[in-house]
Amino acid sequence: MGKRALNIGLIGTGFMGRVHSNAYRQVNQFFDVKYRPVLKAVCARKEEKLKAFAGKWEWESCETDWRKLIDRKDIDLIDIAVPNNMHHDIAIAAAEAGKMVFCEKPLAMNAEEGREMVDSVERAGVSNMIWFNYRRVPAIALAKQIVDQGRLGKIFHYRARYLQDWTISSGVPQGGETFWRLDIESAGSGVTGDLLAHSIDTAMWLTGRISSVSAMTETFIKERSLQEEPGKIEPVGIDDACAFLARFENGAMGTFESTRYARGRKNQNTFEINGEKASICFDLEDAHRLQYFEHGDDEGLRGWRSILVTDMEHPYMSHWWVPGCVIGYEHTFINALADFLEGLETGKKICPDLREGLAAQYVCDAVLCSSETNQWQVINPSSCM
Ligand SMILES: NC(=O)c1ccc[n+]([C@@H]2O[C@H](COP(=O)([O-])OP(=O)(O)OC[C@H]3O[C@@H](n4cnc5c(N)ncnc54)[C@H](O)[C@@H]3O)[C@@H](O)[C@H]2O)c1
Repeated sequence: MGKRALNIGLIGTGFMGRVHSNAYRQVNQFFDVKYRPVLKAVCARKEEKLKAFAGKWEWESCETDWRKLIDRKDIDLIDIAVPNNMHHDIAIAAAEAGKMVFCEKPLAMNAEEGREMVDSVERAGVSNMIWFNYRRVPAIALAKQIVDQGRLGKIFHYRARYLQDWTISSGVPQGGETFWRLDIESAGSGVTGDLLAHSIDTAMWLTGRISSVSAMTETFIKERSLQEEPGKIEPVGIDDACAFLARFENGAMGTFESTRYARGRKNQNTFEINGEKASICFDLEDAHRLQYFEHGDDEGLRGWRSILVTDMEHPYMSHWWVPGCVIGYEHTFINALADFLEGLETGKKICPDLREGLAAQYVCDAVLCSSETNQWQVINPSSCM
């Protein structure tokens, strides 16, 4: 039987534009799903670069104005892969036009924006997904299975770190096409929204809701020049580093740390969970392994197991290569897309949807608020808004 076309309109041709284009191209080669993404139209502002991008990834057409893309009748789904300050307006316009919505993380600049986005997609009744792709790392999905089977018993501790090192030099500018992540107006926050949003989503997916946080942030380099006006120096508004304590609703304690000042760490995303009966540990820099310790193992043989997560029984792996052959970063997006398409086909709940993105956004907002006020913040929809 022929596959059903799903016409995609992608906005953004940077890092995530490439990653998503790749996922659309690959998904039907590896997953037997009824829907087939069609690379219908791609949007960015600079026409020449846009055309080169469209040619390379074989997008059928180009738009330089995202509103025109949303107006097109031949687009079923709008994929938002642009800086954070654009997510809100695009998602709402897309939902109001009846399009399905994919949105990159963090959901929005703050929870207030995020709540409007969620209201809008839910009111329109359009399918939607946020690209929290780390849920689709097979080792993290295996961790989820292990936790859901109750193998850890009562969970005491959740410990997460997300470390990079690319902003240590004071010569790195802020703003513009390349350094929008350092500009508070485009990014909304620094490592909190950019990196900890991932850690928070993973933590809540695995361990349940976070109920309160106490945080500190630091901006190590207080002023930077503007990328687009090299002589002009402006204060830096983002958090370069953030550490916070968390309480989970199930009684577990959490610690989270993120920085772009950890020399030698490029994208180290780790977590460890300690339960009454077992522990789990994961490190994205060794992404195909899950460390697992079970207290019930025979004495004398008890120890940390390093599970190579490439067997057919492991999440997603039966779609890829033979056991022992690892997959990579790009596959997490392909896996996420496959789950979405399966959800469209079967009616199975699509996750993470924008509402789950909002749950992480509430925690991010509370973290930033706690750091400003030096007070614990309870996570609820009205905190700090
Ligand atoms: N899921 C993940 O792991 C992950 C990783 C990286 C980035 N992200 C998120 O993806 C989003 C994009 O990040 P990125 O790394 O791809 O950024 P990027 O700087 O590489 O690309 C941004 C793109 O947006 C385009 N753009 C900016 N303004 C535009 C406008 N007005 N109209 C059309 N296009 C416009 C730029 O031309 C560029 O193509 C951000 O929200 C970021 O947080 C998520």
